[in-house]
Amino acid sequence: MKRVSLTQYLVEQQREHGRIPPELRLLIEVVARACKHIAIAVNKGALGDVLGSAHSENVQGEIQKKLDVISNEVLIEANEWGGHLAAMASEEMDSIHVVPNRYPQGEYMLLFDPLDGSSNIDVNVSIGTIFSVLRKIGHARGVSEEDFLQPGKQQAAAGYCVYGPQTMLVLTVGNGVAMFTLDRETGSWVLTQQDVRIPEDTKEFAINMSNLRHWAPPVKRYIDECLAGKTGPRGKDFNMRWVASMVADVHRILMRGGVFLYPWDQREPEKPGKLRLMYEANPMAFLVEQAGGLATNGRERILDIVPTRLHERVSVILGSKNEVETATRYHAE
Ligand code: AHG
Ligand code: MN
Ligand code: MN
Repeated sequence: MKRVSLTQYLVEQQREHGRIPPELRLLIEVVARACKHIAIAVNKGALGDVLGSAHSENVQGEIQKKLDVISNEVLIEANEWGGHLAAMASEEMDSIHVVPNRYPQGEYMLLFDPLDGSSNIDVNVSIGTIFSVLRKIGHARGVSEEDFLQPGKQQAAAGYCVYGPQTMLVLTVGNGVAMFTLDRETGSWVLTQQDVRIPEDTKEFAINMSNLRHWAPPVKRYIDECLAGKTGPRGKDFNMRWVASMVADVHRILMRGGVFLYPWDQREPEKPGKLRLMYEANPMAFLVEQAGGLATNGRERILDIVPTRLHERVSVILGSKNEVETATRYHAE
């Protein structure tokens, strides 16, 4: 089998499809390289002294794990000097990180969840890194948080890296979804799947069932009907999975279908949900749509939402088209 590397894939996207300018190619390669570094830290575990708490808090009031902080630093250091970026934003930083003056400024902006699934780090369950790329609109000098507040449909690229039994990079530049597996011997990302398609129908849902009593009626109805199985209104038995790492749950859905929900609930009624729009929901929604699935907040397409804040939260329903449509329809009824 002829092996296609990430670099070769990107060069082909650049040449044949005119999809990506050289700066964006560099950006994606740098992110992929940073993910390799994170993968090495993740794999070392206790031997690398990377487990446990960093004893600090992020802007969302969550206690940071050592790996949250390490991964954030790896991504910043890898990306700030290349000249391809104007600024970065992260789950782990209160405000944007503008590329320092000593480096040239590019026109792209990178957002990331450096380490997704933090509660799984110390128990050796799959975790990941999620990223989203936007282009700075207009060529005025300088960059501010406002420049980031673009709807997800304007993403130039998005993807994630999953640190699981295999380390994989999953990417879209708006031309379908491609998957690369890290070859540890050669250190290169090898294309292992292209034109990923999510089946339109599924019998598998993913939701944190322990929040059932807090959900809104449309979500309760949807899950109740799944649980009712063959003799219920849906006429089929459903299976359930919940890894509690969005990366791992979305990866499963890209591979074999399914529906993922992290809806609004009554625990924190003033917030629209737990997940963050700009560096969790948007990149995943872009990937899922590029694979033929759907992503909504129960009312509208996630990629159409115009953010008002960097760390804005959102309710998420994504995955197999027909299930997302059903759950979304229940919100309208
Ligand atoms: P993070 O570790 O970046 O804060 O994200 C965790 C998220 C997401 O990955 C996952 O789907 C969800 O939180 C799990 O939440 P529960 O623990 O409430 O199930
Ligand atoms: Mn996350
Ligand atoms: Mn995180």
